[in-house]
Amino acid sequence: MQKAAVLLGLQWGDEGKGKIVDVLTPQYDIIARFQGGPNAGHTLEFDGIKHVLHTIPSGIFHSNVLNVIGNGVVIDPIIFQKELQKLEDRGVAYQNRLLISRKAHLILPTHRLLDAASEAAKGAAKIGSTLKGIGPTYMDKTGRNGLRIGDILEDNFDLKYNELKDKHLKMLGQYDFPFDLNAMESEWLSSIQFIKKLQIIDSEHYLDQALKSGKKILAEGAQGSLLDIDFGSYPFVTSSNTVAAGACTGLGIAPNRIGEVFGIFKAYCTRVGSGPFPTELEDSIGEAMRKEGNEFGSTTGRARRCGWLDIPALKYACMINGVTQLYMMKADVLSIFKEINICTSYQWKGENIDYFPYDCQPHQLTPNYITLPGWNQSLTDLQDEKDFPAELKGYIQFIEKLMEIPITLISVGPDRKQTILRQP
Ligand code: GDP
Ligand code: IMO
Ligand code: MG
Repeated sequence: MQKAAVLLGLQWGDEGKGKIVDVLTPQYDIIARFQGGPNAGHTLEFDGIKHVLHTIPSGIFHSNVLNVIGNGVVIDPIIFQKELQKLEDRGVAYQNRLLISRKAHLILPTHRLLDAASEAAKGAAKIGSTLKGIGPTYMDKTGRNGLRIGDILEDNFDLKYNELKDKHLKMLGQYDFPFDLNAMESEWLSSIQFIKKLQIIDSEHYLDQALKSGKKILAEGAQGSLLDIDFGSYPFVTSSNTVAAGACTGLGIAPNRIGEVFGIFKAYCTRVGSGPFPTELEDSIGEAMRKEGNEFGSTTGRARRCGWLDIPALKYACMINGVTQLYMMKADVLSIFKEINICTSYQWKGENIDYFPYDCQPHQLTPNYITLPGWNQSLTDLQDEKDFPAELKGYIQFIEKLMEIPITLISVGPDRKQTILRQP
């Protein structure tokens, strides 16, 4: 039987998952998103046009490939409808190639309000959430109160919706947080009507049959491993399992039917929102990285924090995920530097350690760096590994040696074509 492949981010999100899923899609029959929701922003560029997807899997631009939104995903009907409208405006016929799990949970307008109220109440200790209602929605899922896509087809949907809304309104009453629900609610209810016309399926059965009949599936992750609810820098994390195991629970694919795990990382690090970030550069180098890498959030537009590559963090992510191949993104951004640092361990409480400690607060870890020579030349037109500057080859080999996992893809620009496959 075929095994499904998984593609996921190894850092704090925005590694370039959308781009690579789009690049790999022609090799697959089905692209299936397994967790997260509109907190994600997955960017694809081809033919001079840039697309940002939030809920829709990144295989949607290929006409003969099916895209599944799995049970692990949370859907905001308003954002989802807008995304689909954008596809329609660009002439993408998504209707026959988009399937939605009956078991995916719905983000209500009041979930968004609760997210905003909770963040406002936390003040300086806020998570820096995307304010899309992700935390409250997953809380209702695990608290066994949530509404699912399948519910919108039931006769008692209005009743269920009103019950949950009333519960949320009581909770909102505990915050000093003004809001106006009416406009949000009418738009939301109209988007629910729109979603009813889409293909809603039992996706776990569908994917099971697909694997049995030899179809190739690529599971697409959102966020990154260091934002995972269990293994990320808690509490500065998202509310889902972003790691490879999330593909099993978020799609209903059994662990022994997962094959390759493609782990994506940037040649440096970024993080948006609060929380520890050992290699963060709060200086002109970090500023230059942000500018060169255009490091501004695809979903919120917020400036992303930037820093050097963090090997202990990357190793941890590879361990949790069982990564079989590494993909290195945005190598071109480092072209501006004469020298490049890589963090290989940390100093913590007077000791050298090579792991992320449990009770680490922001700014408590001091990275130990190795400095490598930069290549200091543009990479964006390269098409073949043999043309890589020697310093880039050195950078790749250095990382491979530390990671003990082959780097089989190098990305040198945002376009589909700026992708180089390599033989380790
Ligand atoms: P995702 O959330 O993992 O899909 O990543 P995002 O789309 O949020 O952020 C990645 C950003 O980097 C997007 O703006 C991409 O267009 C861009 N990008 C992807 N790969 C490369 C690359 O190799 N070089 C450069 N310069 N930009 C890239
Ligand atoms: P993609 O899929 C980067 C971050 C937020 C915040 C924390 C919790 O594009 O890589 P949430 O709204 O999930 O409750 O926010 O997680 N975050 C992301 N950062 N990329 C993402 O998605 C993210 N999704 C959430 O900034 O720190
Ligand atoms: Mg993103």
